[in-house]
Amino acid sequence: MMSRSKKRPRITLTQNGALKVHDLETFVDAEGRPLPVKPVTLLCRCGASRNKPYCDGTHAKIGFNGGKKPGGKPDRVVEYKGKEITIGDNRAVCSRDGSCYRGSPTVFIPSKFKWIKPDAAPKEEIIRTVRQCPSGSLSYRIGGVWYKDWDSEPMIKVAKNGPLEVKGFIELEDDMGSRPESAEHYTLCRCGGSKNMPFCDASHKTNGFEDES
Ligand code: FES
Repeated sequence: MMSRSKKRPRITLTQNGALKVHDLETFVDAEGRPLPVKPVTLLCRCGASRNKPYCDGTHAKIGFNGGKKPGGKPDRVVEYKGKEITIGDNRAVCSRDGSCYRGSPTVFIPSKFKWIKPDAAPKEEIIRTVRQCPSGSLSYRIGGVWYKDWDSEPMIKVAKNGPLEVKGFIELEDDMGSRPESAEHYTLCRCGGSKNMPFCDASHKTNGFEDES
């Protein structure tokens, strides 16, 4: 666990500016290699920096608007009830990293209308898989208790051509008042195209966003 003497990292952002990450120690690339951080590290979320994942001020030149946009998916949890476990899913914050259908391909079937089958695999497998979801879009309920926050050390990972994957209860202070689905883990847009800013909504999959400028 984090020592009490250390400051807990936090993220602050304003609607049209960079992400400001305070007191972060663990910042890694998609392969887990450490990336440099400062006491306050500015990260790009407009998608246009030439120094990704860091901010180089381009958002001001291009008139970046980081507000929510019309046409996004409903920001609510849909419940898929099974005999032993209920799976919750919020499509508005899914980053489509694919860990669900790789982990439990009989349960998570993206091509189906009712795409989650909570009785199609043992409960233990489903729990393992849900806990791999980086965005917090997936959660589960057993009996009357919802589970959506896990136990992990604070860190941010830069997904390849995708969002920032935040873990470990890093507080998000957003002047639009957004709250992550899980306070413990969530994914933040860095392509500039999400309709549900500041969260990733998987728009990077279709708008051609790439890390290389
Ligand atoms: S990085 Fe996923 S929508 Fe922007």
